[in-house]
Amino acid sequence: MTPSWSIRRLHALDAAQIDALADVLIDCVDGGASVSFMHPLTRDRAVAFWRRVARGVAAGERALLVAEDAHGVCGTVQLIFDLPENQPHRADLAKMLVHRRVRRQGLGAALMQAAENTARDCGKTLLVLDAVTDGDAARLYARAGWQRVGDIPKYALMPAGGYCSTTYFYKHL
Ligand SMILES: CC(C)(COP(=O)(O)OP(=O)(O)OC[C@H]1O[C@@H](n2cnc3c(N)ncnc32)[C@H](O)[C@@H]1OP(=O)(O)O)[C@@H](O)C(=O)NCCC(=O)NCCS
Repeated sequence: MTPSWSIRRLHALDAAQIDALADVLIDCVDGGASVSFMHPLTRDRAVAFWRRVARGVAAGERALLVAEDAHGVCGTVQLIFDLPENQPHRADLAKMLVHRRVRRQGLGAALMQAAENTARDCGKTLLVLDAVTDGDAARLYARAGWQRVGDIPKYALMPAGGYCSTTYFYKHL
């Protein structure tokens, strides 16, 4: 079946794209995802986050991918290139976010594939990420062939409070 979304890399963000990405982030936090923010995530904080991302994208410190369907932006993922000078071959994969309205249709897997392809195109040979231990995302990464390294208990707080453990993963490309 032809997917109902398309994925592209953005090299600059306008105000409408920042707003749309804020919607996706707020939806994920509303849904209980542990993605750096506590609940409730206000629009102002979400927009401020994406403005920082936009500056990083403009500076070449990040690659930003977005998925769009007929209703607009429905998913996103980032590669962070702003790492120490002795790790030019590596990137961190971060902020994999799929709006709840399009989950469980393969978009997460498609964003992973697109992020890995982008990393290869940028000359990266190693990707690293962390995810809530045994959560939806951790299953996605394991399925995509990422190597589980180990867990760090009490790494972060869930959006509604309470510690969660994180699991580190890596993938050699
Ligand atoms: C984790 C996340 C990105 C996954 O996105 P997604 O688009 O739902 O991912 P996929 O559709 O590729 O896979 C999700 C599930 O749907 C299943 N699936 C995929 N396509 C399907 C289809 N056509 N029909 C039925 N099921 C399908 C997958 O097998 C997978 O099953 P599992 O949960 O049993 O492992 C999404 O849940 C999310 O954004 N969560 C909140 C934010 C978050 O936690 N991000 C991770 C930060 S590290």
